Amino acid sequence: MARARSSDGGGNTPSARPSSAPSGPVADATALRDALLRWFDGAKRPLPWRETADPYAVWISEIMCQQTRVDTAAPYFRRWMARFPDVAALAAASEEEVFELWQGLGYYSRARNLRRAAADIHARGGFPNTADELATLPGIGRYSAGAIASIAFRQPTPAVDGNVARVLSRVLAHGATMPSGGDATIWDAAASVATGTRPGDVNQALMELGATVCKPRAPICRDCPLADRCAAHAAGDPETYPVRPPRTAPRPETRIAFALRRSDGATLMARRSGGGLLSGLWQYPMSPPVDPNDGAGAVAAALFGQPLPGLGEAGVVEHTFSHIQMRVVAMVAEVGDASEWTPAGYDETRWVRPGELPPRSRLVAKLAEVVLG
Ligand code: ADE
Repeated sequence: MARARSSDGGGNTPSARPSSAPSGPVADATALRDALLRWFDGAKRPLPWRETADPYAVWISEIMCQQTRVDTAAPYFRRWMARFPDVAALAAASEEEVFELWQGLGYYSRARNLRRAAADIHARGGFPNTADELATLPGIGRYSAGAIASIAFRQPTPAVDGNVARVLSRVLAHGATMPSGGDATIWDAAASVATGTRPGDVNQALMELGATVCKPRAPICRDCPLADRCAAHAAGDPETYPVRPPRTAPRPETRIAFALRRSDGATLMARRSGGGLLSGLWQYPMSPPVDPNDGAGAVAAALFGQPLPGLGEAGVVEHTFSHIQMRVVAMVAEVGDASEWTPAGYDETRWVRPGELPPRSRLVAKLAEVVLG
């Protein structure tokens, strides 16, 4: 699945805490900024959202890039802009249309929030142009607000994502603990360089440097425009910054998904509204976490309020959500022509023919392969 990177290569693996290292504000922020911009002008990747300063396009690109690599996001961005070229088009779209274009990017709450925020912006009659106002919109946090305000509106405001935090924690030899979104020293340092007439390019240069040169492992310091200003480089230990907390293993979970098949071949799909995992997305009705030894028949009866006829196992699907290692047992039930099945905890159901699957998450796509064969 195309998801699941903290932006563009900011993977988290344990590393040792650096020894008591010096840390303080950026020594000559203006000179560092200018060195960054010179490098960026020569090294920047030709990304589709860099051809415009349209706040709508910048916003879409920043949300897409949040948990997705830049090169993965680029084709999604192009398709999105062709289908929803402006705020009005997105505000008028249905959630299902939006999910359809998001399919494969994961973290669908981002797509849901984009649509909600578009309606909000449309109702306000224009795009907010400061980081503080932008941060009042659904799905826009401190990083995205800073990125949009600086890139689209040239506001001198910082935008710290994982890549930017890594670059600055090394420049300062500051042992910020990842995720460093809340580290005041890093945000202050970022604010001291996101100045002048091109703050958006400064922020993007920091992101780009983190993604392509100042990488988590084996940074390419010989290509770095900041090497001679970098305290971690001077100390010979850039990889020890930032400090990474020990990775916690994903929690194992077993669930049972039920594909109810009618005699005409259609299967029952259901969806939840409200928040939570997969909300708004059509899926095969799935149980809450169960004991791996629980029998599917009893779990089905609890979920549907009655036993399911013709129940058989179709296969098992493994899927990792950020913090959950999910094992989903896929069961098929042959339910004949009866159509009144209402799984507990879902708000809507519909019968879906095999060739007409609605937009689906990666997990549901895997389940569909198993149950539809
Ligand atoms: N990651 C997130 N937004 C980015 C941008 N505008 N440029 C480069 N990398 C990014």
